[in-house]
Amino acid sequence: MMFRGLLILAYFCFSCIFVSAASINPIGISGKRFVDTVTGEPFFIKGVDYQPGGSSEVNSAQDPLSDPDTCARDIILFQELGINTVRIYSVNPELNHDECMTMLGMAGIYLILDVNSPLENQHLNRYEPWTTYNQDYLEHVFQVVEQFSGYNNTLGFFAGNEVINDKRSAQYSPPYVKQLIGDMKTYINQHCDRDIPVGYSAADDLKYRVPLSKYLECTDKDGKITNVDFYGVNSYQWCGKQTLESSGYDKLIEAYSDYSKPVFFSEFGCNRVLPRTFDEVKALFSKDMYDVFSGGLVYEFTQEPNNYGLVDIKEDGSATILEDFNQLKNHYKGLALPTKKDFMSAMSKNEQIEQASMSNLPLCSTKYENINIITKVAKDLAKPLIKKGISIEKGHFVDLDPENLKSKYKFYDNAGGELPSLNSMRIVNNFDSSKGSKDKSRKPKKNETNKISIVDSVWLCFAIVYIVYQFV
Ligand SMILES: *[C@@H]1O[C@H](CO)[C@@H](O)[C@H](O)[C@H]1NC(C)=O
Ligand SMILES: *[C@@H]1O[C@H](CO)[C@@H](O)[C@H](O)[C@H]1NC(C)=O
Repeated sequence: MMFRGLLILAYFCFSCIFVSAASINPIGISGKRFVDTVTGEPFFIKGVDYQPGGSSEVNSAQDPLSDPDTCARDIILFQELGINTVRIYSVNPELNHDECMTMLGMAGIYLILDVNSPLENQHLNRYEPWTTYNQDYLEHVFQVVEQFSGYNNTLGFFAGNEVINDKRSAQYSPPYVKQLIGDMKTYINQHCDRDIPVGYSAADDLKYRVPLSKYLECTDKDGKITNVDFYGVNSYQWCGKQTLESSGYDKLIEAYSDYSKPVFFSEFGCNRVLPRTFDEVKALFSKDMYDVFSGGLVYEFTQEPNNYGLVDIKEDGSATILEDFNQLKNHYKGLALPTKKDFMSAMSKNEQIEQASMSNLPLCSTKYENINIITKVAKDLAKPLIKKGISIEKGHFVDLDPENLKSKYKFYDNAGGELPSLNSMRIVNNFDSSKGSKDKSRKPKKNETNKISIVDSVWLCFAIVYIVYQFV
């Protein structure tokens, strides 16, 4: 009996050490795949787009990551849904995002962030980009980059979303988007602790599908680094019951099969057939697709006038889970993502492409179909800002109380029944915020009783085992 008790105790204290990781590992890129920079495992995006109220709700007082109470509420639902990534379209870098980013990190969730907003001087005008590509705009972009580079769970930045979406924008904007990507990469290279990837999110228009992706992928002959690190495709072509062929996904696979960088769906989830059953998730994470696509993000978390929501947020801050939420959860939760092992057995053909693309990144052509790349961009506009750096505090993880991880708001199911079991987020990564922060002046709070560091718990574990052993 004693011995069994000992085993149970030992099991219990070891599991409290290993259940949660001590840090959130940055994601990097290797060839055409995202990888966990610590474990080397491939990383697949299983996520949602998240912009409550739309980008126009971003202002001097709020954005999606400025209010810890709404973050706690929504992260509880992210975990219920089973996601590992959110994409946010607009933030205000003058606001503090430490608490929300810490919560996301603790929940094991990464962020892909667009650097633009609808506010003046915070986006490119797609028809007259030269009127908006200026110092004020670049300063905004670099502020966002500088601040969010401080968080390990910042997976990447989108330089633009659907900037090129018709004939006129395709006439003028491509070189500006490419220049901006280069500016961001240069800034990151000189001011950030790690190489955070920069990409572009494209409207999936057949006229630009291949040419624009190729243009943004290619390396300039003058050696300037202006190519994307990853490519996002907004795709709504799988509506209702479909197959790879009937949806046209087979053509998408074909179009991107030789792309040298990670590609994923930066938006998906056609709502022409309701309720959405999200069967495309099965396709997306099948062998047919995961060689080419690194997962995707469902558009979108909150219900807005365009009717793509998974969750309805009421005036009082309570959240009602809609039918689409449960449909998506059926696919996402418990979905086994491909691992290194899957590739070793399944990848031989593409592995060759990967080898080739890593050693031989495509050089830019002089011409691309349907887009014009000859517009001249003022090339050195970003130089002084990059040289000087941006004076804004880098974000960093902070210590949180268990109270912070609970929702102040109520949850309801589709029929109006309360869901009391959803009340607190689950800690996946129980990191000590004082580590991995460059800011030496911040001292770890020694006074906290309800958090146990890894080292403490190892000692505690040995102590318990030792004491119990004495009694056996
Ligand atoms: C951030 O990532 C670095 C590199 O892997 C790691 O050393 C550090 O502990 C991480 N910090 C946190 C808080 O997860
Ligand atoms: C530290 O703990 C003491 C007693 O447990 C408490 O009175 C004090 O407010 C705490 N200080 C901080 C900074 O949390």
